[in-house]
Amino acid sequence: MTRTVHKEVALRMNLPTGSIGVFLAGDFYTVPAFDKRGGSGDVSELWRGFADDFDWVIGVAGNHDSFGEDRNAAPRFNDRRIHYLDNQRVTVEGLKIAGLAGIIGNPSRMRRRSEDSYCKASEELLDSQTDILITHDGPDAPPHGFVGSTLVREALEILQPRLGIRGHAHWNEPFVELDGGVNVLNVDARVVILRERPA
Ligand SMILES: [Fe+2]
Repeated sequence: MTRTVHKEVALRMNLPTGSIGVFLAGDFYTVPAFDKRGGSGDVSELWRGFADDFDWVIGVAGNHDSFGEDRNAAPRFNDRRIHYLDNQRVTVEGLKIAGLAGIIGNPSRMRRRSEDSYCKASEELLDSQTDILITHDGPDAPPHGFVGSTLVREALEILQPRLGIRGHAHWNEPFVELDGGVNVLNVDARVVILRERPA
């Protein structure tokens, strides 16, 4: 692939010129025949493809995503535009971004942490000023009936990132505001285009 897709996107969406990055919230694997859900496998090429076409890629792994033989291993991308985050932080174009891969569950299974461990990691990440927290699992939103972790939601409401991005569990609406004004975007099975607010 060539790095032209982001220019086409910018043109079609009437976006200003400038860099266009991609946030990935996980679960990109599909079985080769596209005939069933729930398989797991290597998504390295998909991440590289996004990096080929856009200016940077920042993301986390879903519970169906691997990178090579070890199903729990982090990827080793030799590309400075790709930022894989699992209990890590990065600052790109002034945005302070933290990420946590996988889901809450039995730690003996692929890309899972206990709820205690997942929440502790979320809280420790949010102890530092954070603009965007990307997680694959993530908060619930009870007023809307949207599923997720109550403990993670409470951590977000107290520690206040500017935006949470999550995947894994489908919500009928992509965007909710939690108590305290924290915005959460659910990108399970959808693409959302975020634009910088004009100055
Ligand atoms: Fe998932």
